[in-house]
Amino acid sequence: MIEPSPAVTDAAWEAASRPMRRIGHTIETHASIGSTNDRARELLALPDGDGRVVVAEEQTAGRGRRGREWLSPPGRNLLVSVALRPRLAAQDAWQLGLATALAAADACVAVAPIALKWPNDLVSATDDRKAGGLLIETMAEGDRLSGAVVGIGINVNWRLDAMPQALRGTATSLADLAGAPVDRVALLGRLLAALEAELDAIEAGRSPLERYRARCSTLGRTVTVATADGSVTGRAVDLDASGALVVEAEDGRHVVSSGEVVQPAPGSAA
Ligand code: BTN
Repeated sequence: MIEPSPAVTDAAWEAASRPMRRIGHTIETHASIGSTNDRARELLALPDGDGRVVVAEEQTAGRGRRGREWLSPPGRNLLVSVALRPRLAAQDAWQLGLATALAAADACVAVAPIALKWPNDLVSATDDRKAGGLLIETMAEGDRLSGAVVGIGINVNWRLDAMPQALRGTATSLADLAGAPVDRVALLGRLLAALEAELDAIEAGRSPLERYRARCSTLGRTVTVATADGSVTGRAVDLDASGALVVEAEDGRHVVSSGEVVQPAPGSAA
């Protein structure tokens, strides 16, 4: 059955704005746009670009990690990008990804059991199905970050029975997990507040690692991680001090700073 989409107007999204706060002081909404990340990057050039938020009901060129397309039907999900000028060293850019993942998970757990799959997927805490992902794009000047666009896509009211066949084996949505429609505006409000708290923490020198470990369902599992140099299979035992995944494989310990966990498959008990 296809449920009617809970209607959200531009004015309704405004309810998630946070006047006088750093993140979300201005929310720009689009019925349809290429990619919210591209628009947020443009907004970063404005004098008050830091903390501006772009929300779209539909993207015609939504991007995922590793050059993949990000699919989302109009009016059902959360498609949001935040323009930021993080006060961070370029070498600490990884913290922004973990901090954003934590903020997104915090916003979701109010309505559904969500865990983090390293490095930045939101997954069902019960069966690993993917409910959302992050696309973080950073810019550096010398050894400092000069800007960042934090893009977040969350399947909110896109029910499994309405998804393309190719996604049905691996995806889920907050509404499927909660068993009821989820308020997208309230979700955005929680997300922006949590993101500001996480950003404050990492800019003050407090690492997100401990809190990320606590929410990360990859640790303790047997995984296969696809990297640029091939794949490694073993037990994911920890995250190192720079957020890299430590995998104990038969041939020894591997430290993977960038890659994609392609196992365990949804529902596997590994
Ligand atoms: C992934 O898991 O591959 C990351 C998906 C990120 C999708 C979001 S939707 C809002 C923002 N705009 C984009 O084009 N991509 C991100």
